[in-house]
Amino acid sequence: MILITGANGQIGVDLTETLSARHGADRLLATDLRPPQADPPPVPFEVLDVTDERAVERLLDRHEFTQIIHLAGILSATGQQYPDLCWSVNVTGLKHMLDAARQRQIPLFWPSSIASFGPTTPRTDTPQHTITEPRTMYGVTKVTGELLSQFYAAQYGVDVRSVRFPGVVGHAAPPGGGTTDWAVAMFFDAVSRGSYRCFVGPDTRMPMMYMPDAVKSVLDLLAADADRLTVRTSYNVAAISFTPAELADAISRYMPGFTCTYVPDYRQDIADSWPQSIDDSSARNDWDWLPDYGLDRLVFDMLMNVARRLGHTSLLERLKRR
Ligand SMILES: NC(=O)c1ccc[n+]([C@@H]2O[C@H](COP(=O)([O-])OP(=O)(O)OC[C@H]3O[C@@H](n4cnc5c(N)ncnc54)[C@H](O)[C@@H]3O)[C@@H](O)[C@H]2O)c1
Repeated sequence: MILITGANGQIGVDLTETLSARHGADRLLATDLRPPQADPPPVPFEVLDVTDERAVERLLDRHEFTQIIHLAGILSATGQQYPDLCWSVNVTGLKHMLDAARQRQIPLFWPSSIASFGPTTPRTDTPQHTITEPRTMYGVTKVTGELLSQFYAAQYGVDVRSVRFPGVVGHAAPPGGGTTDWAVAMFFDAVSRGSYRCFVGPDTRMPMMYMPDAVKSVLDLLAADADRLTVRTSYNVAAISFTPAELADAISRYMPGFTCTYVPDYRQDIADSWPQSIDDSSARNDWDWLPDYGLDRLVFDMLMNVARRLGHTSLLERLKRR
């Protein structure tokens, strides 16, 4: 049985759906701080606050889990506004899960982020092993989590696996307060109102990944032969890098009237401290990581799905005819 924390989040919704299709809903237990939107939920669900150690222990005592997928977290922009909460959920919460995994020898996956890097890190083709001196609390929690994971793997033999996700673009659930949220919001505003006001400047290049690739990276890493894994902090994974202007341009090719304006806020500083592109050769070598989606395929698929979600039938018909 697989335990998923943070299952109602942007990544959790998609990953849970894929795992459910693969293993069957009854092989999963989805948990989150907040209840699921669907009633009844598509897979068995329980409320779990990962900062509550006793609640974590009680839950793990009640079930025989064979895998933990720990997605509960506070994202970069929210983390800057609520640093104590960010530390508590991202570090204390992860430690509770690592301790639970250690006591029961359950393999654990959790995602780190490109936020582990900072202004002193090389910004292009950022290597797997490089300077990690983030300036955001979110980044601090991710570096701490990576080091904790490596320690638990080396010291206690816990099978911890992790990736440093770039900005993840998906349509099933709204993004959760990250610095790359613009890459999702632009699609929803393009379809619902024909324009978008972007909170970072037009030339802010950021590494991104379409949700199906993000889900695939988790499944591929989980399936990988343990003997081949050389990284027990978090693997760099890359797919595409683009700027808001390039994304707006790609959307305009399908929606000619679409306009984007730029009003940078505090998230610009966060974005400027992160890499523009990532070297993921360790992931490619160790577990054959390869993304499927480039920018144009991502844009077409996102527009189709967002148009369907928002009931924009004329756009949907136009896209289908292309
Ligand atoms: N989405 C991205 O672009 C991205 C990029 C890099 C890394 N990540 C990482 O992936 C993971 C999932 O991210 P996401 O985008 O799905 O985030 P999200 O904000 O959409 O979802 C996180 C979920 O965690 C839950 N949560 C918050 N505090 C909790 C607590 N105390 N106990 C239990 N649940 C709690 C929230 O209710 C939410 O449903 C996080 O660790 C995040 O740092 C995401």
